Amino acid sequence: MGISKTDFDYVSDLALTEAAIVLEAGKEYLVETRLTPLAQREGFASLGAFIQKLRAEVKVNGLHHKAIDALTTNETLFFRDYHPFEELRRSILPAILEQRAGARRLAIWSAACSTGQEPYSLAMLLLDSFPQLAGWDVSILATDLSPTVLNLARQGQYSQFEVNRGLPARFLVNYFTKVEDKWRINDNVKKMVEFRPMNLIQSWPVLPPLDLVFIRNVMIYFDVETKKAILKKIRNCLLPHGYLFLGAAETTTSLDPAYKPVSFGKAVVYRTTEDPKGKT
Ligand SMILES: C[S@@+](CC[C@H](N)C(=O)[O-])C[C@H]1O[C@@H](n2cnc3c(N)ncnc32)[C@H](O)[C@@H]1O
Repeated sequence: MGISKTDFDYVSDLALTEAAIVLEAGKEYLVETRLTPLAQREGFASLGAFIQKLRAEVKVNGLHHKAIDALTTNETLFFRDYHPFEELRRSILPAILEQRAGARRLAIWSAACSTGQEPYSLAMLLLDSFPQLAGWDVSILATDLSPTVLNLARQGQYSQFEVNRGLPARFLVNYFTKVEDKWRINDNVKKMVEFRPMNLIQSWPVLPPLDLVFIRNVMIYFDVETKKAILKKIRNCLLPHGYLFLGAAETTTSLDPAYKPVSFGKAVVYRTTEDPKGKT
């Protein structure tokens, strides 16, 4: 039996208020396929019984958070969309490194990092193409709402299928070790990334001034007001010479005029309107 309208409305309201995830009518199948295995693992006889338990609780608790975790879409891959990473290597990072040569500091944030492919791609790109960064203070902060994906990201072990998606063979050879049927990312890459839990719609921790912000393929799930609020907060952390990277289907246009799209080859990235000269 499918999920009832009342139960679906309750779950979509929970996802919206706790994670800004919009689940419109028509997404009933998604709620069923993602919450039914969780309901079983938690010992409930049915999805309905599980949702009834959630509804009976006065306050949002661990069980609600497990449900929200299960509702997240975690699709990701190494070097996703290729062009942003290629342009980063070719022209964006060389310019930023010039700006930051005095401070010898580079700070990157991968917001909504899922199982780690995005921040590890950034770390490998730095190791591979920018050996001059040895001796710099380089930080890659990777955050996500879901504890499940953060645990997987910290483990840094990927299946053959996962490494076949987007990862050039040379990177697999140089930065991974085969352990039984998995590929484990090497420690020199792993130690460059710090994984932390963070819900983008709750209060943000203090972030360092950032050279690059990757917030890709997450705001597509949010409503317009939430996107606007997040883009505004990012502006407060992004250095004037810094760049914002969004997913291929995302844009700041009509959300925040302070960002200007800049094309590099086949990649579009965003910077704030401030004149970056001399501001590091
Ligand atoms: C589709 S993945 C994108 C991963 C990666 N950025 C990429 O582009 O390949 C979206 C991620 O956003 C996370 N997410 C969803 N809502 C969130 C929120 N409110 N705060 C932080 N992360 C959230 C999910 O847990 C999921 O891992």
